Amino acid sequence: MKTPISFSNKTYALDGGSNYLIRPIQPDDRERIIGLFNHLSPESRYLRFAHAISKLPDDFLDDILHLDYKKEMALVAVIENHSGTDEIVGIARYVTPPKKSSCEFSLSVSDSHATHGIGTHLMLDLIAHAKENGLQEILGYVLSKNLKMLHLVSDLGFQITNLDDDPDFKTVSLLL
Ligand SMILES: CC(C)(COP(=O)(O)OP(=O)(O)OC[C@H]1O[C@@H](n2cnc3c(N)ncnc32)[C@H](O)[C@@H]1OP(=O)(O)O)[C@@H](O)C(=O)NCCC(=O)NCCS
Repeated sequence: MKTPISFSNKTYALDGGSNYLIRPIQPDDRERIIGLFNHLSPESRYLRFAHAISKLPDDFLDDILHLDYKKEMALVAVIENHSGTDEIVGIARYVTPPKKSSCEFSLSVSDSHATHGIGTHLMLDLIAHAKENGLQEILGYVLSKNLKMLHLVSDLGFQITNLDDDPDFKTVSLLL
């Protein structure tokens, strides 16, 4: 299925000789997104959603599967698993509030594929796409205890700011 945008899918190498592809999400990715969520540990779910969650709500799935691919975008990292089936192992997404030029991102990588650079590549491709589509800033809210994510965005040049009214979160932002 084709998405109504120009995005050059990219293939990256994993240690051990296999590859993964980064491409825009497609409306028929629903089961693969549920599969990714089911492979996240309770800790990773908490770090991503900032509360305990056992199932992705249907309206959330509808939102991430149906985008305009400009003001809203989601990129997925896809591997071919042992049975030859495509499996989504990571997703980076942004949404832009109406009439704003600053978008808000989120990122998840399956625990079994973490620390191989997938999160970093997803963010780099998402940032490039936001810039190409005229957005001027990308920002996110990261739990203060999520040191891995704070390192990742710091390496990408994000500014990290404490929230005065909520020490549990930090704002991370990058001008595009
Ligand atoms: C945080 C998260 C997105 C990181 O994804 P990831 O794919 O593991 O990230 P990367 O592999 O790109 O980078 C993570 C670390 O691995 C290191 N790394 C990258 N490639 C590597 C490789 N080939 N070999 C060894 N280490 C590597 C990076 O340097 C980085 O180290 P650092 O934290 O010291 O800077 C992922 O762990 C996750 O989904 N966590 C739960 C959800 C969450 O926290 N989301 C963020 C809230 S918005």
